[in-house]
Amino acid sequence: MSGERPIGVIGVGWVGLVTATCFAELGHQVIAMDIDAKKIRSLNRRKVPIHEPGIDQLLERNAERLTFTTEMEDVLESARLLFCCVDTPPTYSGDADLSRVQAVVGQLADNGDHALIMKSTVPSGTGRAIRRDASDVAYVSCPEFLKEGTAVNDFLHPDRVVIGADAGAEWAADEVEAIYRPLGGEMVRTDVASAEMIKLAANAFLATKISFINEIANVCEEVGADVTEVARGMGLDKRIGPSFLRAGVGYGGSCFPKDVSALKQLAGNTGYHFQLLTAVIEVNELQKRRVIGKLQKHLGALAGKTIALLGLAFKPDTDDIREASSLVLAARLQGEGAKVRGYDPVAEGPAGKLLPTVELSGSAEEALDGAHAAVLVTEWPEFAELDWASMRDRMATPLVVDGRNFLDPKSLRDAGFAYEGIGLTSSDAQAGESAAEAESAEARSR
Ligand code: UDX
Repeated sequence: MSGERPIGVIGVGWVGLVTATCFAELGHQVIAMDIDAKKIRSLNRRKVPIHEPGIDQLLERNAERLTFTTEMEDVLESARLLFCCVDTPPTYSGDADLSRVQAVVGQLADNGDHALIMKSTVPSGTGRAIRRDASDVAYVSCPEFLKEGTAVNDFLHPDRVVIGADAGAEWAADEVEAIYRPLGGEMVRTDVASAEMIKLAANAFLATKISFINEIANVCEEVGADVTEVARGMGLDKRIGPSFLRAGVGYGGSCFPKDVSALKQLAGNTGYHFQLLTAVIEVNELQKRRVIGKLQKHLGALAGKTIALLGLAFKPDTDDIREASSLVLAARLQGEGAKVRGYDPVAEGPAGKLLPTVELSGSAEEALDGAHAAVLVTEWPEFAELDWASMRDRMATPLVVDGRNFLDPKSLRDAGFAYEGIGLTSSDAQAGESAAEAESAEARSR
C-alpha cells in the first residue's frame, strides 16, 4: 500500500495506539499524533506506555510503517483520513467532556481535503454539531468496540464494523470501509446519529446484562440457587447468549460507567428519563459494596482487621484501575476501620496514584500475610494457581470472599477456608448441608 497517503491517528491513548498499530499491521503507513510529548518519545523508542497484550509485537513488527509526532501540522500535511481517538471523560454532570474533540476540530483547515473519522465515544448529535462548525470536513462515525486486554484481537477480528456518514461524506465512508474490509465482519453502513447511538446502546446493553445477572445472583443467595448454573442455563438460549452473564462485584473500567451515564444523561437532556439505566447504575454501585456484608458475617466488626484485596485492575490483562470495584471496596473497608492491603500483578503503578491509602504488596503471599480475609476482586489467573493450603497458615483467619466466582469453592473449603462467592451457596449453607448429609449417612448405617 505504498504510494497511498498515510492514515492519520489523533490521540495515542489506548484506542489510538491499538488503532494505529493494527492499521500498520494491515500494511498501511500511519502517522499518529498526541500532545503528550513524553508518550510520543516513548513510542519513538518503541516502548509501549500502556499494558495491552500484543501491542509490543505489533509496534516492533511494523516500526517502519509507524510515525509518531506531537505536531498536528505533520498529520494534516500528509494524511487525508484522520481517525480521532482522543478521550471523552465524564464531566461532573455525567455528560461526556468533548473539549479534546473540539480542540482537534479547531485545528482542521476548511479546505475540503480532510475527513474526520470519529472513534472516540461521543453522544449522538456530536457529529451534527461538528459538521456545523467545520462544514468542509467530511465526517464519519466509526465507533470502536474493543475490550481492554483483548483489544488487538478484537480489532483484527471484529463482529461488525459500524460506519456512519451523511450526505457528502460517502467518499470518506467508502475509504474507511476499504480499510476495514480485509478484517471480515459485517459492515453496518448507516447515518452518523445512528452510528453514535449504536456504540452507546451496545455498551449500555452489556452493562444491563451484568447488572441483571448480579441481581439474579443476589436473589440466588436468598433462595439457595447457584448463579453460575442459572447463567449457564439462561445463556444456552440463543436469544440470550452466554456472554456478559458473569456475576461478580460489578463492572468498572473506562467505558461502561462513563457510557452508561452518558446515555442516561443524553436522554435526560432531551427530557426523557431512562429509568432502566438508572437502575443499572445503582445496582452496580450497590454490588461493589456487598462484599462488606459477607466479610462482616464472618468477622463481625471490621475495625482493626486486615483485608487483602487480590487484584486491583477493573479486569484481568490490564493495568487500568479507572472505576475499578477495588476503589470503592478499599474506601468502604477503610470507612469501616479496616486496614486494607492490595496486590495486582500489573496495576501497581496506577494503584499507587488512585489508592494512596492502600498498602500495596509485591505479591499475593505478602498481601495475605496475617490478613483476616482475602477478597478476590480481579480474576487474574495467578490467583487460581496460588497454593491456598499454605496461604491458610499465613492468614490470621482462613476466609476468602471471591468477588468473581473464580476460585474453586470445594478445594478452598477442603483446604480449611470459609469461602463466599457471589450468588453461590454460602459456607454456612454448605456446612449445614454437609452436616445433614453426614447425619443421614450415619442414620442409614445404623
Ligand atoms: C467494554 C466493551 O466490552 C467494549 O466493547 C467497549 O469498546 C469498551 O467497553 P472493556 O471496558 O475493556 O470493554 O471491558 P469488558 O471486558 O467489557 O468488561 C467491563 C467490565 O465488566 C469489567 O469490570 C468486567 O469485570 C465486568 N464484567 C464483564 C462482569 O462483571 N461480568 C461479565 O459477565 C462481563
